[in-house]
Amino acid sequence: MDNEFYNKQTDLSKIKIKLVTDYFLAWLNIISYHWNGKIFYIDLFCGPGCYEDGNISTPLIILEKTLRNQNLLDKVKNKLVFWFNDKNKDFVEKLYKNIEEKYENIQKEFKNFNSPFQIYITNYEMPNKEIEDIIKQIDGPIFAFLDPWGYSGISKNLVDIIVDKKMSECIFFFNYNRIQAAIFNNKVVETVSEIFGEENLDNLRKRLQNSNIYSHDKEMIILDEFVKYFSNNYTRYVVPFCFKKENNQTSHYIVFVTKHPLGQKIMKSIMAQESNNNTTGGYFTYIPSSPQLSFLTYDTFDSEKDNIKERLYKKYKGMELKFEELYAQEGYFTPYTVKQYFQIINELTKEGKVRVTYPPTKTGKERKHSYENLYRYGIVRFEE
Ligand SMILES: C[S@@+](CC[C@H](N)C(=O)[O-])C[C@H]1O[C@@H](n2cnc3c(N)ncnc32)[C@H](O)[C@@H]1O
Repeated sequence: MDNEFYNKQTDLSKIKIKLVTDYFLAWLNIISYHWNGKIFYIDLFCGPGCYEDGNISTPLIILEKTLRNQNLLDKVKNKLVFWFNDKNKDFVEKLYKNIEEKYENIQKEFKNFNSPFQIYITNYEMPNKEIEDIIKQIDGPIFAFLDPWGYSGISKNLVDIIVDKKMSECIFFFNYNRIQAAIFNNKVVETVSEIFGEENLDNLRKRLQNSNIYSHDKEMIILDEFVKYFSNNYTRYVVPFCFKKENNQTSHYIVFVTKHPLGQKIMKSIMAQESNNNTTGGYFTYIPSSPQLSFLTYDTFDSEKDNIKERLYKKYKGMELKFEELYAQEGYFTPYTVKQYFQIINELTKEGKVRVTYPPTKTGKERKHSYENLYRYGIVRFEE
């Protein structure tokens, strides 16, 4: 399968690329208002940038989309640094050639020091201490994409090094299929410990051995331990997006990690657009279309909404808090977006259980009730 990866672009790859590129551009736009120095896009498992069928893949798409966005480009001109790395020398050379051919002008401008961005391409095998040290020393926000085939090369330590930096975020590939098969394999215990933590691995094994669990429950237990570890005990956001095979078995996850509530809010709305099955498991899912499985393609929001309303009212009765805090606490493990929580708050308001207020604008004007204003300024009071 790995050898065939670059033969042809699959639908799963398309979705993955969309999540990464859409989020990157949204992130870059925000960062451009808050940071004056260099801004970094780092892809440590980049590949050649092209499939054999001629379609371009993430590295070239990211470059192209950034270049086409003139408004954004004006804001980040001379600040943006792209760093691509792959352990495969041929891929690195191909990517170099692809970039040079496609972006001849950039290269020329770059040499004249007028380039809108800088591009570095390296050839290291991860994990690599030198690379980690370079990342630690980078002074500026990083958006990193870590997309190996297997699971070696990704570690909690690497994700921490990236996400601990200011305004920095990371998307990585969680190879569920291979990892779940390796949990009880002592030969790869060190690599698996990088994913769950050494202490947690024992606990995970115990939980999995406990009873006759079904594969869905097994997956939830694995995901639960994984999210707990990567979120540093729920002190930062971990948003998983599940990719299923046509037979409905999970193949892998794309996982987003951020410290910032706005980051998770934006990523969730991007994931919601790409998800074709908001499962009750509480995360976004993409299942390749297949006539036999079309009955699975439904949105669970309508059936879940009443439960969420009841839970919120029970938990916050008599309390007042900012909507942003409420969403950060409650929307964290659900696939539901701010727009959907807006709907929930509106229904609770109609039922007389909630009152929403807004501070006036600087010029003393009243603020309109909208989901954007609710997220940015809204204060929600749960009536007794
Ligand atoms: C799934 S492909 C990446 C595809 C790429 N993100 C894209 O969208 O075109 C995985 C890449 O990771 C590289 N790779 C695998 N293990 C690696 C490691 N330990 N260190 C660096 N690169 C690695 C492979 O050579 C391969 O090109």
